[in-house]
Amino acid sequence: MIRLYDDPDAVSRAAADYFMRQARRAVEARGRFSVALSGGRTPRRTYELLAQPPRRDGISWPHIHVYWGDERCVAPDDERSNALMARRSLLDYVPVVWDHVHPIRCEGDPNTGALRYDELLRERFSDRGAGLDLVFLGLGRDGHTASLFPHSPVLAEKERLAAEVSTAGQQMRRVTMTPQMINAAGVVVFLVTGAEKASILSTVLADRSGPAKLPAQFIRPHSGRIIWMVDRAAAAHLPPDRKRSTEAGTHAPRKIKTQ
Ligand code: 6PG
Repeated sequence: MIRLYDDPDAVSRAAADYFMRQARRAVEARGRFSVALSGGRTPRRTYELLAQPPRRDGISWPHIHVYWGDERCVAPDDERSNALMARRSLLDYVPVVWDHVHPIRCEGDPNTGALRYDELLRERFSDRGAGLDLVFLGLGRDGHTASLFPHSPVLAEKERLAAEVSTAGQQMRRVTMTPQMINAAGVVVFLVTGAEKASILSTVLADRSGPAKLPAQFIRPHSGRIIWMVDRAAAAHLPPDRKRSTEAGTHAPRKIKTQ
């Protein structure tokens, strides 16, 4: 499902509202809500909105369990840390229980960090990774998502729920949830904004029935629930029928089935 919005701020508001609704439902039904956060620039505004009233007060924070889809293996106070970004924009401002916050710690030894995160995920979820209610993801211009990069061996990983990534050309080592883990989630939400994402977004969405080539195409939740929240600029290269609905767009999202 693609949901089209006018601009990045509308995408952020929609994503924050979606988080709030899903959290309420999950807490009512099961007493907890487990979410995997994304790094990158795009979700920051969503996190900030969640940290402010009225959304902040509409979420039962003690019942929220926080994980990360990926992490750059840098010191916790390094500006590139995904956990630090989420703390500064959200977690430091809400009454979350710190025991329920599970950053990926991999600065010293990425391989050990990945093994530990894999074990943690197995303890908290099933061996297949089932149990995350929501995963937020971004989309890189090369089609990567989380730290799943093109041609990475991690894309073919069938056992591990988290793995180390050492991809040629990357400046730092990383740890990522594997497609196996992400695809077991209840819902996966991609947040994609800006003209620089238009080309890759249309490529990734062009043919989702064929074999996956780009990392983002490996994300196919078993439950079938995947939502692309995109703005007009990112949607600019979508095929004409989809583009027409963008241009006719209102503040309300347009929903388009993708699979
Ligand atoms: C990371 C991310 C990564 C990101 C995309 C999009 O830690 O780098 O998890 O997958 O989501 O690169 O990043 P932007 O939102 O900054 O465009």
